[in-house]
Amino acid sequence: MGAVHLLEHPLIQHKLTYMRNKNTGTKEFRALVQEVAMLMAYEITRDLPLQETTVETPVAWAKTRVIAGKTLALVPVLRAGLGMVDGILNLIPKAKVGHVGLYRDPATLQPVEYYCKLPQNLEERDVIVVDPMLATGGSASAAISAVRQRGATAVKLMCLVAAPEGVQRVQRDHPEVDIYVAAIDAGLNDHGYIVPGLGDAGDRLFGTR
Ligand code: PRP
Ligand code: URA
Repeated sequence: MGAVHLLEHPLIQHKLTYMRNKNTGTKEFRALVQEVAMLMAYEITRDLPLQETTVETPVAWAKTRVIAGKTLALVPVLRAGLGMVDGILNLIPKAKVGHVGLYRDPATLQPVEYYCKLPQNLEERDVIVVDPMLATGGSASAAISAVRQRGATAVKLMCLVAAPEGVQRVQRDHPEVDIYVAAIDAGLNDHGYIVPGLGDAGDRLFGTR
């Protein structure tokens, strides 16, 4: 069973509080999503393997280390996952970025895939699927299936706010995937929204409501 990592760094929790506030406008919300995504990326990359190298400093040669293997692949789930990409790229500028387009049918709450474009050699990369919200878990589970069908084997999921139902769904469908979240809330309402959550992440990021 994949582990669930609750990232409780004070900066993450502080910024999340401002994101939850219904009076926080689009500009500030967007900045906060990026900042929290960057802080979470710092935590999620803790176990990346390193390899030895040498570099010439202005003084002498130094034996030092760099991240080993192919560059990481970041896969935002459209739309709302896009809001997390720039924050993560601030830390990992060479990451390749793939996109999985999914929307949740409002009547059935089932994810509908409408786009998928992923980096090459996915099987050789650490893949991080990112989406601010893990509600029923249908979208995240479908996005993980999409990357796995195209060869990914080392997959992590990073979300800002989760419902227990979403965590359980991903653990059931993809037991090998570790989940990283900033909060696990009480549950879902009748419309499949996380309670208390932060509302519709896509609409708040892009000002569409
Ligand atoms: C939101 C969110 C997730 C999904 C979570 O996307 O960004 O992708 O809902 O819900 P689930 O866990 O129940 O599947 P939405 O469908 O609103 O699309 P959008 O990002 O384009 O707004
Ligand atoms: N999608 C969102 O954007 N918010 C929720 O609370 C649930 C799904």
